Amino acid sequence: MFTAILKFVLLYHALLQPGCSGWSKGIHAAASDLNEKSGLAIAVMGPTGSGKTTFVNLASGSNMHVGMGLQSCTSAIQVAPPFALDDRQVTLIDTPGFDDTAKSDAQILEILATHLSQEYQAGRRLSGVIYLHRISDVRMSGISMRTFRIFRQLCGDTAMTNVAMVTTFWESVDKAVAEAREKELVGQHTFFKHAVDRGAQLLRHNDTIESAHAIIRGFLGGSPKPLLIQEQIVDQQMRLADTSAGAELDREMLEQIEDHGQEKRILQEEAEEEIREREEQARQKAEADMARHHEEVARHQREIARLQHPCRGRRGMRRVACELREL
Ligand SMILES: *[C@@H]1O[C@H](CO)[C@@H](O)[C@H](O)[C@H]1NC(C)=O
Repeated sequence: MFTAILKFVLLYHALLQPGCSGWSKGIHAAASDLNEKSGLAIAVMGPTGSGKTTFVNLASGSNMHVGMGLQSCTSAIQVAPPFALDDRQVTLIDTPGFDDTAKSDAQILEILATHLSQEYQAGRRLSGVIYLHRISDVRMSGISMRTFRIFRQLCGDTAMTNVAMVTTFWESVDKAVAEAREKELVGQHTFFKHAVDRGAQLLRHNDTIESAHAIIRGFLGGSPKPLLIQEQIVDQQMRLADTSAGAELDREMLEQIEDHGQEKRILQEEAEEEIREREEQARQKAEADMARHHEEVARHQREIARLQHPCRGRRGMRRVACELREL
């Protein structure tokens, strides 16, 4: 059923034109010319807010719009103007992150997949992928993990040797803390370790142009490799929903729905527990009221009995005599 939802979303999205991608089409042509002259195309991926556009602008000396929350233009692919680095022409491709405010994760994946498969079909290969991650994050957020898992399936194991896992925002966190986090990232089997074990580089970006270029230089000596999603869509003619990345997104969506369900269950259990507690309190109160009532009745009865006491009103020795008689 969720696959069906995904397919519907993708189909629906295919009918719409992504809003802000107009100008990047002209750049594509330029990028393709350069690619033939030993140009180099590198995609920059990673969660929203990991510094993708900032990195691309810094490295390429361009001034593309940096997303700040509600900007829908950042949910499109942006191809930066090519720039020269060590006699090579480098084209950086800024990609949208998941968890976008204006587009669903399925739409974002569709934008990525469409661009990647069009480029591959046109014979333009990626020389590398830079995957950015904020080292300033205290812990890996749900969206960071989700983004990485989808990325892993998008890229595939074979292309991991052409990936640089780059941590950003080193300047906004204590170095020792950041280094400890970096160690943790590679230690966790579910995260960077998976990529690094398959040949991905683990690098740091310190927000300088030197650092950005040093990262890109790492790709100059390599050769392009297709990403798994490119092979699956173009070579194997798979539909996006059936690709590894599509299936992963499906799983993520399902998990989110389940998490939501679990949350609801917990809330419901808490509500039931509260009702039980309130009922118990009401029962105890009723019992106490009843006991008090019984006591009051007994007191009244005692009072009545006292009022009805036959010796009432007698005094002195007569009363003593009466009371002795009553014992
Ligand atoms: C940033 O990184 C570059 C390249 O790795 C290095 O040359 C430079 O010294 C670093 N700058 C700072 C301020 O850490």
